[in-house]
Amino acid sequence: MTILIDQPDYFGSDVEAKTVAVNERELVLDGEFVIPHANSFGHTFRDYDAESERREGVENFYRKNHIYQSFDFVKKMREEYGKLNRVEMSIWECCELLNEVVDESDPDLDEPQIEHLLQTAEAIRKEYPNEDWLHLTGLIHDLGKVLLLPSFGGLPQWAVVGDTYPVGCRFDESIVHNKYFKENPDYYNSAYNTRYGIYSEKCGLNNVMMSWGHDDYMYLVAKENNTTLPSAALFIIRYHSFYALHREGAYKHLMNDEDVENLKWLHVFNKFDLYSKSKVRVDVEEVKPYYLSLIEKYFPAKLKW
Ligand SMILES: [Fe+2]
Ligand SMILES: [Fe+2]
Repeated sequence: MTILIDQPDYFGSDVEAKTVAVNERELVLDGEFVIPHANSFGHTFRDYDAESERREGVENFYRKNHIYQSFDFVKKMREEYGKLNRVEMSIWECCELLNEVVDESDPDLDEPQIEHLLQTAEAIRKEYPNEDWLHLTGLIHDLGKVLLLPSFGGLPQWAVVGDTYPVGCRFDESIVHNKYFKENPDYYNSAYNTRYGIYSEKCGLNNVMMSWGHDDYMYLVAKENNTTLPSAALFIIRYHSFYALHREGAYKHLMNDEDVENLKWLHVFNKFDLYSKSKVRVDVEEVKPYYLSLIEKYFPAKLKW
């Protein structure tokens, strides 16, 4: 199902009412990176007939993303969504709600989102049976995609998914479709367009504003609802789409010692996030009790969203 989105005024009049559906990692399949041909279950994936059609969609997605994700935009979104005044629900209720978001453009994700969440979590659980916090992180990392739903403001895809990157300092060259930043007002702002911008050496990623999307939103939700998950979990949730950092090694000058430690776990996590998009079905009812017990351990019964 493609989510139809009413564009809020400030998203710009040239953004189509129906934004091309795209999925985060599938956005960078146009030769920017080496793409694995099979996942850990031996299935080939990312076979796609309309490659050029999709490339157009991907490129258009990033054009909008790079034009509109300015420091001011991010600040506005963090303020607005940081209020957490939309709904109260449990983590599991949100997993079920996310099932309403299915991404048609993604040839690997023709299953409901809850299956992707559980496949990621279960794949981690197999290899790291003792790290229960990491299993739960796998389950919840994409819950912020509810931002696409009308009840959460129905944000356009470019404000929800895709690679994320810092705002308030220079856009790194390793960011996919970098050329479109030339249309971002921050590109010409001397306060924001230097190596450090408004930040300083080893200031810690916690003090860096990231482009707005499902990652930062879910981080806010978890933190403001006083999760007892370790900082590595929050780091994973917040930076799992920050490919310039965890794949390209950019922006390391902003990391503090804690970030360096947490980045190791993000590398572990990302392997599972990408490769667990398999056709191996997960029996939701069978694994549900385990995940409910983890949710109870690390979260309040109801969270503010
Ligand atoms: Fe994600
Ligand atoms: Fe994911």
